[in-house]
Amino acid sequence: MNPLDTEAAMKPASDSILNPAAPARQEAPLLTVDNLKVHFPVANSRLPFAGKRMLHAVDGVSFEVRPGETLGIVGESGCGKSTLSRALIGLNPPTSGRILWRGKDVAANGSKRDPSLCKSMQMIFQNPIASLDPRMTIERVVAEPLTTHFPGMGAAQVRERVLRIIERMGLSQAHLQRYPHEFSGGQCQRIGIARALISEPELVICDEPVSALDVSIQAQIVNLLKDLQRETGLALIFVAHDLAVVKYISHRVLVMYLGRVMELADKRVLYASPHHPYTRALLAAVPRPDPLRQRQVRATLGGDLPSPLALPSGCVFRTRCSYADAACAQQRPALDLMDDGAEVACIHPQFDHAGEKIAAHRL
Ligand SMILES: Nc1ncnc2c1ncn2[C@@H]1O[C@H](COP(=O)(O)OP(=O)(O)OP(=O)(O)O)[C@@H](O)[C@H]1O
Ligand code: SF4
Ligand SMILES: [Mg+2]
Repeated sequence: MNPLDTEAAMKPASDSILNPAAPARQEAPLLTVDNLKVHFPVANSRLPFAGKRMLHAVDGVSFEVRPGETLGIVGESGCGKSTLSRALIGLNPPTSGRILWRGKDVAANGSKRDPSLCKSMQMIFQNPIASLDPRMTIERVVAEPLTTHFPGMGAAQVRERVLRIIERMGLSQAHLQRYPHEFSGGQCQRIGIARALISEPELVICDEPVSALDVSIQAQIVNLLKDLQRETGLALIFVAHDLAVVKYISHRVLVMYLGRVMELADKRVLYASPHHPYTRALLAAVPRPDPLRQRQVRATLGGDLPSPLALPSGCVFRTRCSYADAACAQQRPALDLMDDGAEVACIHPQFDHAGEKIAAHRL
């Protein structure tokens, strides 16, 4: 699919919708992720007795999400976006690091998560049809978070809340007794969103919620999420491959590569003047209508993603980076704050695509 199609299909009503003001940065974060690692032990198929190796799916990721904010997460397939999302929601146990909800560790000292957190943090999955239980009616699918987290709620009130949210998603009472297989992909994703929102969460993690849908349905779902955010102050983490969709919906964008954060910046800064060579390569890969501009940014992303079982030393991007030198193999770059507010994990972030010095530099 051409990302330009997606951008056009979104058709914002105004520039303030295309570029919403970011929520106030002074507000205390809802979610704080601190040096999170998720490593999987993997058996060596060639040497079955050699013991397990560790696959570094998420390798020291830190960021914050504030109320009403959308943080976009992008990166190539296999860079750890879903593993990170699943760790945040409690489906993948972290190997180390902390996840704080309103400043409180969600699993301090290895204890179980507070079940009330499940009401506050919900997830929308990539495959809308597979994420709904085929044996349950839509009414039961959508009601389940309420019946689980609010056991004292009466049946009439549950039904009224289900009906209200399902109508907000553009479906009706007539749909409630049907089963997931009777709906299209777009309708199933609306049902998945209804299920995620019925407990009135403060943060929804959307793991590629539109990538299985066609462009016009993508636009409907993304606009629906934006409307809901404006109405309720909901915070979103929005994972996607499609940089145009991420640009449209996000306030800030986090770029991941091999389980690590390469760049984290306000979306206007990131799309206008990306610092990290990987961010620039990802953006250069997006087709552009202006051929001159297209030529200027043709810093292509060559080679394959290295195995997360054997990460390159130093900077993990060095095997594909045209600016790599000996220092890049020695030292793992920390996230440095630049003078435009971007945080960048690169020891040479000051060159543009043509090797020219650019204005921004470390603070
Ligand atoms: N349960 C698991 N056991 C072992 N390895 C895993 C497990 N889950 C994920 N991985 C590996 O972790 C790495 C990151 O996978 P992940 O699904 O998080 O990537 P992703 O960025 O979401 O990719 P995509 O864009 O294709 O969805 C991959 O190498 C994957 O094979
Ligand atoms: S640290 Fe070196 S290898 Fe890594 S992105 Fe920067 S220049 Fe490239
Ligand atoms: Mg994924």
